[in-house]
Amino acid sequence: MVTNLSVGKICGSVFLFFALTGSAFSQDPATGLSVYQSKCQRCHGADARGNREISVALDIEFRYLGSAETQALTDLEIRQLIVRGKGKMQRVESMTAPNVRDVIAYLRTLGG
Ligand code: HEC
Repeated sequence: MVTNLSVGKICGSVFLFFALTGSAFSQDPATGLSVYQSKCQRCHGADARGNREISVALDIEFRYLGSAETQALTDLEIRQLIVRGKGKMQRVESMTAPNVRDVIAYLRTLGG
């Protein structure tokens, strides 16, 4: 028999789960775009093809984030390069778990 107490516990854990994992539903590319604009655009550019000055300063050719190569990265690989950094990309500061998810969802809308 399910008591009110156990229902309460289950609801509590579901709530805790969503609180810890971020939004209750899947990724939101529209929010991801605003995350991109505030956290990524200064290096990767509004068109995701790379900021010329940063490219010169870091002596790097930015890859278009919609390229087949970038899109071939898994969500986990992209997540790790955002939160840990990779090569000449330093980790991006102050990214929440939902920010990371949403910005990846936005990247997935790029391509071609
Ligand atoms: C301070 C500049 C800077 C910022 C800010 C920045 N990046 Fe980068 N990013 C780079 C550089 C430089 C590279 C190339 C790294 C390398 O290969 O050495 C890179 C590489 C990447 C790649 C890998 C592309 C590939 O195909 O190899 C992805 C994906 C990426 N960045 C996503 C993001 C996202 C998403 C954000 C924002 C949350 C972000 N970056 C913020 C500089 C930046």
